Amino acid sequence: MRKILISGASRGIGKAIALKLLKDGHSLSLGVRKKESILNTPLDPKLNNPERIMVHNYNATDHKSSNSWVESTFKTFKKIDTIIHCAGIFKRTNLIFDNNEIGDIEDLWKVNVMGPWILTKDAWKYLSKSNSARIIVLVSMSGKRSKGNLASYSMSKFALMSLCQTMRNEGWEKGIRVTAICPGWVNTDMAKEINYFPKKDMIQAKDIANICSNLLDLPNRSVPFEIALNCQLETTI
Ligand SMILES: NC(=O)c1ccc[n+]([C@@H]2O[C@H](COP(=O)([O-])OP(=O)(O)OC[C@H]3O[C@@H](n4cnc5c(N)ncnc54)[C@H](OP(=O)(O)O)[C@@H]3O)[C@@H](O)[C@H]2O)c1
Repeated sequence: MRKILISGASRGIGKAIALKLLKDGHSLSLGVRKKESILNTPLDPKLNNPERIMVHNYNATDHKSSNSWVESTFKTFKKIDTIIHCAGIFKRTNLIFDNNEIGDIEDLWKVNVMGPWILTKDAWKYLSKSNSARIIVLVSMSGKRSKGNLASYSMSKFALMSLCQTMRNEGWEKGIRVTAICPGWVNTDMAKEINYFPKKDMIQAKDIANICSNLLDLPNRSVPFEIALNCQLETTI
């Protein structure tokens, strides 16, 4: 059973993954901005599995919180062999943006790119010890193709995909395997304003949780680097 850091576990995809992996028997360290988001949920260690769940403050824009989360997890679990990066934000900044939107672009860069980068860097020495560590990253279809006018979100996800490739390259000899999950729309808060097709036809967070569960069962020789998930036909990728 694995010792897993999950960012963005308060809601959406991260929460669904945490619930599934808890059921599978893994130990989870959940990094959240507000610990209250976990209170009185099945992920609250005060209610369930106190020996297998810990919750720590983590804000992707605060580099110190990344390091203290990693160190506190290692102290508790004595091992870290998996990271699942789910924390992320979405903004609709176009190519020709208003001057007051520059902060949104900077936020995307900080949360979607620097967040996973710094967290991975902080945990690297522990991942390297395992010989079969896993890093799963919630990228997006927007990390594979730029659709419409989502300039800044796509920019952040293409950069994240590049980071995934480097993690794979540098981790390979150490037995670290990386998977970039690239979904289209997933039925979470992030997609709540999308109304041009039914929510039930979107990818569901639990579908991604099941994929993660299966990924963690695979041996080093058979871990896919990229999983693209389409809920609508796309013929160009
Ligand atoms: N939903 C989609 O259609 C879709 C499609 C493709 C890829 N993705 C990617 O999948 C990942 C998860 O998305 P989701 O759909 O689960 O989104 P969501 O429901 O909006 O949840 C976002 C999660 O990220 C956390 N977060 C946001 N900013 C943070 C920060 N500065 N520091 C730490 N945590 C932060 C949130 O925590 P709080 O509760 O504290 O806000 C929340 O747990 C994201 O990277 C997203 O880009 C989503």
